[in-house]
Amino acid sequence: MVELESIVSAALAEFAGCNDPAALENSKARYLGKSGRLSELLKSLGKLSPGERPAAGARINAAKESLETALVRRREELADQKLARQLAAEALDISLPGRGLGVGALHPITRTLERIEALFHSLGFSVADGPEIEDDFHNFTALNMPEDHPSRSMHDTFYVEGGMVLRTHTSPVQVRYMEAHPPPIKIIAPGRVYRVDSDATHSPMFHQVEGLWIDETVSFAELKGVFTDFMRRFFERDDLQLRFRPSFFPFTEPSAEIDMSFGDSWLEIAGAGQVHPNVLRAVDIDPERYQGFAFGMGSDRLAMLRYGVNDLRLFFENDLRFLRQFA
Ligand code: PHE
Repeated sequence: MVELESIVSAALAEFAGCNDPAALENSKARYLGKSGRLSELLKSLGKLSPGERPAAGARINAAKESLETALVRRREELADQKLARQLAAEALDISLPGRGLGVGALHPITRTLERIEALFHSLGFSVADGPEIEDDFHNFTALNMPEDHPSRSMHDTFYVEGGMVLRTHTSPVQVRYMEAHPPPIKIIAPGRVYRVDSDATHSPMFHQVEGLWIDETVSFAELKGVFTDFMRRFFERDDLQLRFRPSFFPFTEPSAEIDMSFGDSWLEIAGAGQVHPNVLRAVDIDPERYQGFAFGMGSDRLAMLRYGVNDLRLFFENDLRFLRQFA
């Protein structure tokens, strides 16, 4: 059966020459398909004499098996080649140098707040927090600033729908804390506050740290001691001088403005005083039994002084050339 051998070698050559799966399957059909060349050969067995048939049939079947084996192998080869091409196309050059990731750093205002919190924490104060969009009661009324009180005009701010305001100080945090906790109370309230103000030393958004210590005997002497200790440690200067200047706030009585020595002049740093009995009454604390002090400072001023920055607004423009200097 010379024909069988030539069919097999032609099929093997064709399989080997197929470079994509579709061509291979077409080629398979030409030899192994229903009317492929091998199948035609099998059909022609009938023409042989009964004695010749078994041997010829066995040879044809063996040839068929060898072609099927070759076909499976070629299919695998083509699949392997395809995968190899895909891997090569998607390869990453991991030897390329990276683009570099900048290392982040805390904003100088955040660092200042953290430093203030750490110092007060060491004096036994915990940190309290509250909403920046406040209601009139917590921002003003509970602080002995009834409607129409002239001191409200010093707190001109941004009014939000529904009679809410962007808080003008963090004192409302103290009110909320006193509503929720009985004395003794010893907290600071750091956070963002808002007023209609903008120049080199005022920003419409700025940061305050207010403090509140309420117990049975907390006096103005404790205020002076705590605040002086804090300031000297903040600026790392044991000889830093503070001046407590009589002043007025509706929520404290007596009240003082605190100045720090700066060269041969004084810089206003904070407001402070003994908490007004009306404020304690507004939160159901008995002013006959409890007393204490409150203070409020613009912590951004402290950051300016500590870092030698002369325009407050620089902190909030987010110019990385400026901010990177503090990283
Ligand atoms: N809440 C005051 C302000 O922002 C600051 C202050 C706090 C003054 C506590 C005295 C006592 O103006």
